[in-house]
Amino acid sequence: MTSAAIMDGKAKAAELAEIITADAAALLRSHGMRPGLAVVIVGEDPASQVYVRNKKRTAENCGFHSVQHTLAANTSQQRLLRLIQDLNGDPAIHGILVQLPLPKHLDELAVTQAIAPEKDVDGFHFQNIGKLTSGHTADTFVPCTPAGCMLLIADQLGSDLSGLDAVIIGRSNIVGKPMASLLLQANATVTICHSRTRNLPGITRRADILVAAIGRPNMVQGDWIKPGAVVVDVGINRIDVEVDGETKSRLTGDVDFSSAVHVAKAITPVPGGVGPMTIMMLMSNTLTSARLAASRS
Ligand code: GUN
Repeated sequence: MTSAAIMDGKAKAAELAEIITADAAALLRSHGMRPGLAVVIVGEDPASQVYVRNKKRTAENCGFHSVQHTLAANTSQQRLLRLIQDLNGDPAIHGILVQLPLPKHLDELAVTQAIAPEKDVDGFHFQNIGKLTSGHTADTFVPCTPAGCMLLIADQLGSDLSGLDAVIIGRSNIVGKPMASLLLQANATVTICHSRTRNLPGITRRADILVAAIGRPNMVQGDWIKPGAVVVDVGINRIDVEVDGETKSRLTGDVDFSSAVHVAKAITPVPGGVGPMTIMMLMSNTLTSARLAASRS
């Protein structure tokens, strides 16, 4: 049985880390400036804590100035907005990321829009979303997960996707919508599917590029995939599995890897596919922001 190429995001992220680390060191030499990343987490969501710890550690490994603000779950909107204002005005900070989701009492929209657009390394500010959707990708911060997916896709198919059908499952602001903008910018013909889409497998079977960003473990089966497709699995789902009579926790994607791997031309694993690329795109955006700040000063 044929088997897809595995798109190794962990290895690619490690290669990028070397370049980013060298570029950060060069910026320090030329301008005495270290890229500064502030990550804010509110509450105790265990998955968010893991993501934030990884982001902080990766920033440190790249030689960045890295700060984490951990706020209690009952933090007020006013307190959080004040922190963002402080970080907006802090010259040592070039990137601000508030980990989502926030506790229910906080207004996520107001928080993401309070971050200064030039420090919005998540690309969630309306100004940056507007630039992305209008095709001005060169001078905006592209959201990290879609940016990482595009690099993995380009490794397989090049950067011009003319004539290719791309299907995204999931219409979130973090992944689905910005992913559609990027694929369109690369000349793909783009379809976004979501929970109200009828005959989902009928649509996914037409995809030369399939991006799954649903949040449902193993939902996309091998027979939903066009033979020879490039499959990018954005899902990170924690599931319980029985191993020798013991229940163990394991990460799995939105794609049923064991069946998809025999149909696709290339596929990302979970873990080790999109996840490490997302973190590295955050480093890349922070470095870009620091360079822009250096050129202004
Ligand atoms: N939660 C899940 N993904 C992300 C992300 O890319 N950025 C932020 N801020 N929160 C997230």
